Amino acid sequence: MFLNNCWYAAGWDYELIDGRMLSRTILEKKILFYRGDSGKVIALEDRCCHRGAPLSIGRREGDDVRCMYHGLLFDPSGKCIQIPGQEKIPPTLTVRSFPAHGKYGLFWVWMGDPAKADPDNIIDLPYMDNPMWKGIPDYLHYDANYLLIIDNLSDFAHLAFVHTNTLGGSEEYAFVTKPVSVERLDDGFRVERWHMNGDAPPFHRKVIPNKNDKVDRRNIGHMRIPGVFSLESMFAPAGNGAEKGNLEGAREYRNCQFITPETRKTTHFFHIYLNNFEGDDHNISRSLRDSLMEGFMEDKHIIEYQQEMLDADPDFELKQIAADVPLSHFRQTLSKMIEDERNGQTSPSVQATPRIHDPVPGGARKPSREAVF
Ligand code: FES
Ligand SMILES: [Fe+2]
Repeated sequence: MFLNNCWYAAGWDYELIDGRMLSRTILEKKILFYRGDSGKVIALEDRCCHRGAPLSIGRREGDDVRCMYHGLLFDPSGKCIQIPGQEKIPPTLTVRSFPAHGKYGLFWVWMGDPAKADPDNIIDLPYMDNPMWKGIPDYLHYDANYLLIIDNLSDFAHLAFVHTNTLGGSEEYAFVTKPVSVERLDDGFRVERWHMNGDAPPFHRKVIPNKNDKVDRRNIGHMRIPGVFSLESMFAPAGNGAEKGNLEGAREYRNCQFITPETRKTTHFFHIYLNNFEGDDHNISRSLRDSLMEGFMEDKHIIEYQQEMLDADPDFELKQIAADVPLSHFRQTLSKMIEDERNGQTSPSVQATPRIHDPVPGGARKPSREAVF
């Protein structure tokens, strides 16, 4: 169902400010997240091992947390270190702790074997902590399985129809067949798509001076296991030779999205839309955040209905079109990793990204609903 031995984005740093104790369900486990006085992010099972009270309504004491039912105190490793009125502490009094780490303004959690958790393997997105790139972090909750959201982000074909008036621009975008390249990676895929001499889409038009100028548009989408998507978008003045490397007058975006299963049927979606041209004009970040949210609500609307339809008929078989090649590859790769993990085999590191196939879409395979339900 889920891959455990990997880092999942669990929340934005701002959610833990001022000593906040955050209860969040990740992969169907209730976890308490907090930042201790040491500055470390701590993740403990959100259930006291004594009588099951939630630790998230307990009291943080430095890096420790006290259950406010009978007062047991737990350290960041989950070990009970104090029982009021009792000297001897049985070693069985522990709650599970999860490796956690802060990076890129997010805190991350490792749900599998703690011995395998290496923070250096958290995905590399250097623009997330480069001050040249500006954006506003945000969150959306989905009543849908995480794979349906990954499918949606893996597919540019829906831009034109779901997002005609927000992110897409026009239905024409869907009918572009070239140049598109899909690279199947062993931890996901990379898609590159150009659209020449088109109108700027509405979200971009709102933040540029020459709104009616035609643009050459390049999108590079990169989806990596377990569900980290980055979309590098570039809009250059049409005909300037951007495809040959002339980026004069180009404006760029880095759209970073983190999809983390909450349960089988619900998903956390963390996102930030970075731009490299706003300077001190924070209205640009705000406008982009609002436009993106508007777009994501369009996705949410159709994906949550899709989930309802799929739930209503578990025998319904999905069919495939060429635009589904990336998402099919992603599902197959992830399913194989989950299977290997269950069988105790080691999958290739989810951070390695060698190219393993020629980047040409096609070769329809049987679409899979495995791991959705
Ligand atoms: S339930 Fe937590 S101390 Fe008793
Ligand atoms: Fe979308």
